[in-house]
Amino acid sequence: MSQIPTFSHMPADIGLQRALERTPAEIVQEITASGLKGRGGAGFSTGTKWALAAEAPSDQKFILCNADEGEPGTFKDRVILQEHADLVFEGMTIAALAVGAKEGILFLRGEYTYLRAHLEAVLQQRRSRHLLGEDILGFQPGFDIRIFMGAGAYICGEETGLIECLEGFRGEPRNRPPYPVHQGFLDRPSVVNNVETLAWAACILQKGAAWFRKVGTEMSTGIKIFSISGDCERPGVFEFPMGITVRELLRNVGGENARAVQIGGASGQCIPASQFDRAIAFEDIPTGGSVIIFGPQRDMLDVIENFLGFFADESCGQCTPCRLGNRKLLEGVKMLKAGTCSMAYLNELCALGETMMIASKCGLGQSSPCAFLSVVRNFREELMGRAHPLVHA
Ligand code: NAI
Ligand code: SF4
Repeated sequence: MSQIPTFSHMPADIGLQRALERTPAEIVQEITASGLKGRGGAGFSTGTKWALAAEAPSDQKFILCNADEGEPGTFKDRVILQEHADLVFEGMTIAALAVGAKEGILFLRGEYTYLRAHLEAVLQQRRSRHLLGEDILGFQPGFDIRIFMGAGAYICGEETGLIECLEGFRGEPRNRPPYPVHQGFLDRPSVVNNVETLAWAACILQKGAAWFRKVGTEMSTGIKIFSISGDCERPGVFEFPMGITVRELLRNVGGENARAVQIGGASGQCIPASQFDRAIAFEDIPTGGSVIIFGPQRDMLDVIENFLGFFADESCGQCTPCRLGNRKLLEGVKMLKAGTCSMAYLNELCALGETMMIASKCGLGQSSPCAFLSVVRNFREELMGRAHPLVHA
């Protein structure tokens, strides 16, 4: 039994057949009309991304599937690839038809090596059925997909770090713009989409934009796949409509006793119980789908110490705010735990966190202070009790 019922009910490759009956502009139009937004977490319009790549003047374009799922608490792409790889490859092929790409690459997280044999077998089967290769069900030009293995660096999940890595360089993010849709892999227009986004694109071509829009909110359409972990009775991979409140989600997984929930992985926001009626949607609490639940026994300082340790290790070190900022925030949390951090210093650390969000070069440094800042904001009373008593500015 699949953990993702909607994907299980999609007959194979109907979406691709429908795409082959349409012009590239019509495919883009269907995706745009569905309101599909990037399921990796950033929520950029998939239709807009495909339209920009389609318009970019080049005879060589690429479809890159970002399967370098490395955010702490995130494991839904692993399940999608394990159970519904055909749907992901179908989505990549539809994207290729839409933008005019002949080559696709699936960038697979190093820790998911064990999935490779299965994915290669699915690709081979698709080639033998003419769903990939020199022609697609008799239509020219063809399209093929290869798998590139990551090597375990979190930063290669950042799209330009991923592209650098594909080109054989260290996975260090580039400045954007130019965005990959204009100048991506080998400086050619490249669509970089998350695994889940591509699977939904295949469903949308099969069922239509109106079907997708039936659930969710006006600004956040469709279903979202969640990775749910932590202090609840039923951790795992679930699908829920976009716009579900935190409280409803917790009720579904047996996590009603939570004192806080981290939404969007380590780089997301820490939501306290007083805000559980907020909606998980791009217009309220945006997410790539990871939800980490903290029960009443959890010390929130342990939580942010763990996250900041992760970011301090995974920062690529290219820019100062992120390289040093994550270490300073981590040091501050350790001081708070030891009772040697004053409230005045904690306020300075918050200013540092705000600066990192503005001055860091890529999404890692721009979002790594989020958990720290939201814990300080939402659990201030509790932290005041643990700060050094002499200076309470
Ligand atoms: P972003 O908002 O800068 O970009 C999102 C996408 O839209 C990118 O593909 C980008 O190329 C495209 N884009 C944005 N503006 C554009 C423009 N003007 N023209 C053309 N294309 C444009 O977000 P970013 O930095 O790529 O990703 C950060 C997000 O990734 C965070 O929100 C975080 O939630 C998520 N994330 C997910 C992880 C996971 O394991 N799934 C890991 C770490 C972060
Ligand atoms: Fe590297 Fe961090 Fe700067 Fe991103 S923000 S480029 S991870 S140092």
